[in-house]
Amino acid sequence: MNMHEIRVGLLGLGTIGVGVARILLENNDILRARLQTELRLVRACDLDIETDRGLDLRDVELTTDVDRIIKADDVDIVIELIGGYEPARSFVAAAIEHGKHVVTANKALIARHGEALFALAEERGVVLAFEAAVGGGIPCLKALREGLAANRIESVYGILNGTCNYILTKMEHESLPFDVVLKQAQALGYAEADPTFDIEGVDTAHKLAILAAMAFGTHIRFDEVHTEGISRITPDDIALAGDLGYRIKLLGIAKPHGDRIEMRVHPTLLPRTSQLAQVSDSYNAVQISGDFVEHTMYFGRGAGERPTASAVVADVLDIARAMPDGTAHLAPPMAFPQAARRDLATLPMVDIECEYYLRLMVKDQPGVLAAVADILGHHRISLEAVMQKERHATQSVPLVLLTHCTREGNLQAAVSRIVELPSVEDEPLILRMERGA
Ligand code: HSE
Repeated sequence: MNMHEIRVGLLGLGTIGVGVARILLENNDILRARLQTELRLVRACDLDIETDRGLDLRDVELTTDVDRIIKADDVDIVIELIGGYEPARSFVAAAIEHGKHVVTANKALIARHGEALFALAEERGVVLAFEAAVGGGIPCLKALREGLAANRIESVYGILNGTCNYILTKMEHESLPFDVVLKQAQALGYAEADPTFDIEGVDTAHKLAILAAMAFGTHIRFDEVHTEGISRITPDDIALAGDLGYRIKLLGIAKPHGDRIEMRVHPTLLPRTSQLAQVSDSYNAVQISGDFVEHTMYFGRGAGERPTASAVVADVLDIARAMPDGTAHLAPPMAFPQAARRDLATLPMVDIECEYYLRLMVKDQPGVLAAVADILGHHRISLEAVMQKERHATQSVPLVLLTHCTREGNLQAAVSRIVELPSVEDEPLILRMERGA
């Protein structure tokens, strides 16, 4: 091996894979200048090696045989850009077993199988790096792991899914229904292979589970993230929230509560003046607060070929820099050494406390509001604002109530009684508010 050369093998020549190959080829000079070593893409594996990717891949061996990457003696760093749980998990595990450092953009893989893979990587003395898994091109994990290492982290708020942010922005600006905008977002290429991962909040929950574990030094507990998506939000809700001074965003929220962690993903009302509420279109943003640094915010493109590839190649550079003397002095991937990571429980959703936006569809009759308010009062829930926009003698109308801070369990108990009122029609929409974000 030429000691002034680090050899890279690529699994997956899809959108991000092409981006990575493009950086390694087009920015080779800047990479060499920063690294003082040649970074060479020796081989790329994909089921389709015939399609012209618009790149000069003459010096890159294209193969359909994954073993030519994960078991090859002439590959130092494997980049996994297949996505999804399998076969990505098996390939990454096999690459680690064969002593390869691995870089991945696969949030689903890290959220679900990260613990086993980190343990395996530690055992084999290699690195599993995943900056591109959260926030695409935004170096938010590096900030959390390194730049904020002096702090106790107090909260993490993230707009982590470009598809949902694009949909909510368009619904607001153009008063369009959800289904119409979803099709536009899919056409732009931000969406997951299974778009329900985007719109039902699963993609955000993958990313939040990773952020929370890094922020609080705990194990990744993706299955315990409370997850709601945006498919029930209507243009009316967006307009009503706007009239009340709020904007609706799909937010991932993580906070510590002693020896428990709060982790939730749901559409959230944010004051229109807050910084996160200003993040529009397909952009992502992560706000991390620490006890000494206070609020910090990271903003940028959370998806797409070039931004995501940028984060992948930054991980490759970190590993490549450390390789000559081993990688022991790199910051631990999950921000705390494996042995120091704790197993904190997740705060049950009924125990969280926040303010709520409750939208009911009700018959426009005398006494309806009094009956609803009576039930809320009985559950010790105090109201901050009430709004009903339209008057309609025959059809139901939206009645919106904003509550003061209350326990989720109390609100759920009240709503289960409110839905039994004869004047209340359809399923109520409950949205949580975050003024502190
Ligand atoms: N489907 C994701 C999004 C891609 O829309 O943000 C990046 O993880």
